[in-house]
Amino acid sequence: MIDRRQLLAASAALAATPALGAAPKPGRAAFPKGFLWGAATAPHQIEGNNTTSDLWYLEHQQPTIFAEPSGDAANSFLLWERDLDLARAIGLNTYRFGVEWARIEPVKGAFSQAMLDHYRAMVDGCLARGLTPVVTYSHFSAPLWFSAQGGWTSPESADLFGRFAERVTRAIGDRIHAAITLNEPNILILLKSLLPPPVWDIQRLTTETAARRLGVPRFVCGNVAALSDLPELQRGMLAGHRAARAAIKAVAPRLPVGVSLAMFDDQAAGDVAVRDRMRGELYGDWLAAARSDDFIGVQNYERAVWGSEGRLPPPPGATLNWSGAEVYAPSLAGAVRYAHAATGVPVLVSEHGVGTPDDSVRATFIPAALRDLRQAMAEGVPVLGYCHWSLIDNFEWISGFKPKFGLASVDRQTFVRTPKPSAAVLGRIARANAV
Ligand code: BGC
Repeated sequence: MIDRRQLLAASAALAATPALGAAPKPGRAAFPKGFLWGAATAPHQIEGNNTTSDLWYLEHQQPTIFAEPSGDAANSFLLWERDLDLARAIGLNTYRFGVEWARIEPVKGAFSQAMLDHYRAMVDGCLARGLTPVVTYSHFSAPLWFSAQGGWTSPESADLFGRFAERVTRAIGDRIHAAITLNEPNILILLKSLLPPPVWDIQRLTTETAARRLGVPRFVCGNVAALSDLPELQRGMLAGHRAARAAIKAVAPRLPVGVSLAMFDDQAAGDVAVRDRMRGELYGDWLAAARSDDFIGVQNYERAVWGSEGRLPPPPGATLNWSGAEVYAPSLAGAVRYAHAATGVPVLVSEHGVGTPDDSVRATFIPAALRDLRQAMAEGVPVLGYCHWSLIDNFEWISGFKPKFGLASVDRQTFVRTPKPSAAVLGRIARANAV
């Protein structure tokens, strides 16, 4: 485990020494010794049958915003050892995964020792394979009872999440490398600029239908909510992050804690005023909160070019991802530079990837993005590691199973995992610790 002192020493050393690690092979740039090379997953997206969760309930409403239900997903609740073997076989040294609150506390106040043991076995499984465990405490999904009492908008939410974080840390805090409290608590703020109004209407209808069926006034999830819920949701999650951080530190004072943010690489076309205002709206409160953390998790998938009238479309001829957004490799380094400049804390790239059915796009995108990331590090930005999203193709939330982000595909009948060529590309970089 690294502690805060080591983190600070690492940042200072990185800032002072542009030449990182061992001498690279000709034409390759080395990363510092101990750099984390990982892949990331989230419990609801891969485990399957997360039946006590809020999202499972929403997936089965009529109408629902979900293209299809998560079902068995990749069956990783049972097949987690295959996932760890895969990460190891690819050549990675880190696995970022999440513990599922809905399984650990399926009924308010009733904690499942068996489920805590399950996640402890996963942590031990990582360590046995030489994989450094980085653990997310909440990756969008929550227990059904939590969201049915208003989720993060309930005044009780921070205390409840703090209590959960304390239980989890007692179970695994002595052997994990870093804790991420919340995954992308700002995602819905970002999606405000991406999703068209009808999608927001269906989200509202979905949560209203769930609330009516359960006979509760309000049903709010971390990544499915009505536009009008967003200000309260943000306030609740900020308080939840602080409560979880305090609870984790009370149990494991040396365990590094951070939050991971969804971040564009925001660029200005001409005047910087709109870009700067957008940065404030999208991340301002969270970057301020992260200044008191041990690191910041950056999750970057694209750039946003802001003109005076708002976001500009992709340039003509750009390679596009599954959703029509531009595939732009330099965006990772741009987002990382800004996150560090705004917080002063080291960065963990907790997610970066591309949703595409064409794996050759991913295979080219990974080394290109990493070359720029390495350059940012040489200029003094402390980066602790890189976790690719995702280890395997999985349940992409409201979009269902269609988008493909995995380094490996998954047969949805047999659950066989098959690495794609891009996995070998990342594995070669990870093994050499150089790009
Ligand atoms: C999330 C993942 C998601 C990925 C690709 C991030 O928003 O943390 O859960 O699958 O991006 O969309």
